Amino acid sequence: MGRVSGKVALVTGGASGIGLSAARLMVREGAKIVIADYNVDAAKEAAEHIVHEGGEAEGLFLDASQADSIKDAVAYTVERYGSLTILFNNVGVTNLKKDLDVVNIDLDEWDRLMNVNTKSVLLGCRFAIPHMVESGGGSIINTASMAAFAGDSVRSAYGASKAAVVNLTRYIAAQYGKDKIRCNGVAPGLILTPAAKNSMPPAVLDIFAKYNALPYHGEADDIGNTVLILASDESKFITGQTIQVEGGHYMANPSIADFNQFLAQA
Ligand SMILES: NC(=O)c1ccc[n+]([C@@H]2O[C@H](COP(=O)([O-])OP(=O)(O)OC[C@H]3O[C@@H](n4cnc5c(N)ncnc54)[C@H](O)[C@@H]3O)[C@@H](O)[C@H]2O)c1
Repeated sequence: MGRVSGKVALVTGGASGIGLSAARLMVREGAKIVIADYNVDAAKEAAEHIVHEGGEAEGLFLDASQADSIKDAVAYTVERYGSLTILFNNVGVTNLKKDLDVVNIDLDEWDRLMNVNTKSVLLGCRFAIPHMVESGGGSIINTASMAAFAGDSVRSAYGASKAAVVNLTRYIAAQYGKDKIRCNGVAPGLILTPAAKNSMPPAVLDIFAKYNALPYHGEADDIGNTVLILASDESKFITGQTIQVEGGHYMANPSIADFNQFLAQA
């Protein structure tokens, strides 16, 4: 008996990185999965791989910026597998060129990020919750980010959109808890997904490593395993929380590395 046996999950942005990790781990623990992604070829390929290994999965096109597309993905999942009891709202986008400080940010980019990163979470819940109520409950997991909890020099829209996800998570948990629907978030720090690995020069990775409490970077499965716990009944008394999975990067005095250097020289 797997940890999520008998459950049906829709994973948005599931063709790569964090979403793909969560999908694979949930399948391994007995869930049936719809992997919904803008990159439909990669979504279908991931699903075929899972089926080849004996799991149950389907790949599906999703454009999380479009309400109808999210509605269709929910309807497809229920039609294909008979219910929807786990929703992993994972799609999120960022743009280092246009999402700048508040004076220089491109306002169209602000709207785009609020739409894709925040409104897609609202819409996923809006369409999935009636099916979860019908099934007697469910678990919703939203991907936030540590950018929700700290200020930064750029990415104002990304940080605000993810902070909204953290509080929306509490509102959904408060509104549907009595229907046995739990809603939690996961807030990754830097996670070396293929996209992050390809876009970050080694010098930037070194900066992140310097401020981690742990001596290594995060990997997609660190988030996937957290999602698995939140999806399973092991976490049946946890709701409205956003779990920070970030290697201790943000939990200590931010000047600790410099302070240690000072002590060594004193
Ligand atoms: N990797 C990190 O360091 C990190 C840190 C904090 C938060 N996050 C968050 O984790 C989530 C997943 O990130 P990842 O690193 O795995 O990224 P990724 O690029 O590896 O995967 C994201 C997936 O989402 C899909 N996608 C993008 N826009 C879409 C849309 N409009 N509709 C449907 N699918 C779409 C992409 O095709 C891709 O398969 C995002 O919400 C991101 O903001 C990531």
